[in-house]
Amino acid sequence: MGRGLFILFEGCDRSGKTTQSTRLVKALNDAGIKAKLLKFPDRTTAIGKMIDGYLSQKTKLDDQAIHLLFSANRWEAMDQVRAELESGTTLVVDRYAFSGVAFSAAKRLDIKWCKAPDVGLIAPDRVYFLDIHPDDAAKRDGYGEEIYEKREMQIEVRVKFFSMMDSTWSIVDALKDPDEIHRQIMMLTKQAFKRHKESPAPIAKLWM
Ligand code: TYD
Repeated sequence: MGRGLFILFEGCDRSGKTTQSTRLVKALNDAGIKAKLLKFPDRTTAIGKMIDGYLSQKTKLDDQAIHLLFSANRWEAMDQVRAELESGTTLVVDRYAFSGVAFSAAKRLDIKWCKAPDVGLIAPDRVYFLDIHPDDAAKRDGYGEEIYEKREMQIEVRVKFFSMMDSTWSIVDALKDPDEIHRQIMMLTKQAFKRHKESPAPIAKLWM
């Protein structure tokens, strides 16, 4: 049996990543494909609890320190990510290093500096960018209490995401009907499995 695929959802806040990534895992499982959902930040670990305190504005941290904590929160999951992929489980991941870079670079940290701690993480096979303009996102339930849920920040974040896209990315219009988005994502995912079956690619490393 071959390895699982690493499928990543990225996007601004309130773009529907959580809904769509959950639906994708269910659809894959229903089709007999072993798949699991992972989410970053993982707020359950010790590092994740520090991140949660920062995001919910209970604690303060400087921009560099929180950036490194987000990265460490990914590194601490890498053994599990590798083991799952190698055992044939497909991982559907809700946010990853691109969020790390986009949010910190939006705060004016140098983009090369932002990427450095995530260099060498396991790279995703496919990235689905759920694209929504922050003004449309704000019309959904409105932004909540978290530190980055502000219009100007989200506009900057979206620009940074666009600057990092390559051929592994697909832009999905997040304003469309959720069922239609799910169908598009299923189609893209089937193509990814087909391509991987025809020419299996080894697990790759990010930004190397
Ligand atoms: P998330 O838990 O996905 O929030 P929600 O489910 O409410 O969308 O992410 C929390 C916030 O953390 C989000 O604004 C994006 C930000 N973030 C970073 O700044 N750096 C990172 O590395 C990651 C993964 C997320």
